[in-house]
Amino acid sequence: MLLYILGSLGFALIGFIFYVWYNFIRVPPELAHLPALPPLWVSQSERHRVTREIAKTQPFARQWIRNWGVVVLHPEPAKIVETNASLYEKAPSRFSGRSFISQFLGFGYNVVGVQTEDWKRHRAVINPAFDPAYIRNFTNIFNSEADKLLAELSKIDTPVHAHDWLQRFTLDCLGIACFGFDFGSITNPNNEFAAVYHRLVDQGPSAAGIFAPKRFLVPFGLLDILPTEENRRMQKDLNDWTRLLDRMVKFGETSQDSDLAALLLKANSPGAPNYLSMEEIRSDVAVFFLAGHETSATSVASTMWYLARYPEVQQRAYDEIVKVVGKHEEPTFQAQQELQYLTNIISEANRLTPPVRVLPQRVAMQDTELPGLKLKKGTHVSVSIESLHHLEREWPNSDEFNPDRFSSEAHRHPFSWQPFGAGPRVCLGRPFSVLEQRIVLVKLLQKFRLGLPEGAPQHIQVADRPGLLRVESRVTIHSREA
Ligand code: HEM
Repeated sequence: MLLYILGSLGFALIGFIFYVWYNFIRVPPELAHLPALPPLWVSQSERHRVTREIAKTQPFARQWIRNWGVVVLHPEPAKIVETNASLYEKAPSRFSGRSFISQFLGFGYNVVGVQTEDWKRHRAVINPAFDPAYIRNFTNIFNSEADKLLAELSKIDTPVHAHDWLQRFTLDCLGIACFGFDFGSITNPNNEFAAVYHRLVDQGPSAAGIFAPKRFLVPFGLLDILPTEENRRMQKDLNDWTRLLDRMVKFGETSQDSDLAALLLKANSPGAPNYLSMEEIRSDVAVFFLAGHETSATSVASTMWYLARYPEVQQRAYDEIVKVVGKHEEPTFQAQQELQYLTNIISEANRLTPPVRVLPQRVAMQDTELPGLKLKKGTHVSVSIESLHHLEREWPNSDEFNPDRFSSEAHRHPFSWQPFGAGPRVCLGRPFSVLEQRIVLVKLLQKFRLGLPEGAPQHIQVADRPGLLRVESRVTIHSREA
């Protein structure tokens, strides 16, 4: 009997090992010839360096995140993946149940991650809050939040961590414009929303917090249930975070009829034409919080660094601002649209330092083919924005900062520059972010001359962590009136 039980257990164990090997470890034969990226736990800068190196000669690489998938490095296959949304659907979340990342994202499926059928429902609800005609009304909000930021920066006489300050600015803009709520983080960095968010995202042993690679690699959120001190702290923060998300959803009861919070809450009424469950709404709120402020902060912080590093570019930008807007006047909606050189600078900063380095993963919905590569149904596919932005063929002297690339009619592949993604799932917040960025940059340049601290590295420094990019370089700010 005992022999029989042991035999059965042994057989089951062998079956289990084979299952794990076949589904998670084995390189599928059709991907075996592709160069492999370093694993997720290797430093991010090294991963991106290798990705760019491979992209010089190959359109694809393979990477392992619990199973082997493809990373697209060239614009033509990127176009195929990004424009065929029903063949390459967004990959279902790897985080389910009570795993930390699932809790952070409000337990539900949000507009960034959902597949086409559900996406249409989310977008039908959200779109009016991002209509260009509606976004125009945010000009005053962005101007007055920029004034608050400038007032705080004027008090500082040491090099500033631009990313931290811009994060506070973009958070407050997002809160007021989308939720009718002032987080007040420009004047109070310790406000409860920002404090919990930073503890979850920026801290932890690897400064990667909730996005630490280990959480992506170990399945079923198993790491998150271990009784460690770090997990206990994180669970407590997540409980607070979930409560804060619920409070943000409730802002919809009192905010303006057509702002994001109100639209989301209305979609939860019985019989609403595009009904959203409370989990979906909470998840949308979480993803707006994340996507709606951190990315724009990265973009402005990196643009500030490039302006500081290249004084002649800064001078040209300033001259343009004086000509179009004036030395002290507020940028109007109309005026900020005319700042072509400033826009080119932001575009070039986004090319060299894209806030999102890799697009959210897609999954092939059936056996298919990219040029020169067969894919089995279920294969995960991502697009490396970082590689597209550094291809020498598309961007001669690709490491050089040169905003004038964007003023010429150079023949580039339309998918070779895409900090906001491209195709039907392109960033919904792009017009919002562009308006916000131009306004704050105009105000910063009207008031300050930017520079680099003495002895500072001549290359931009970014945090070595997965997920959204964080600029660590500091800049000096000197009043133009001094
Ligand atoms: C510089 C700033 C920003 C960058 C670089 C950026 C980048 C991106 C990227 C790369 C995507 C994914 C596209 C894909 O999966 O193919 C995305 C999607 C999205 N972003 Fe942004 N984003 C920025 C600002 C914002 C802001 C300010 C908001 C909202 C206030 C926002 C809301 C969204 C939403 C809702 C989506 C999902 C769109 C959809 O699938 O329908 N983003 N963004």
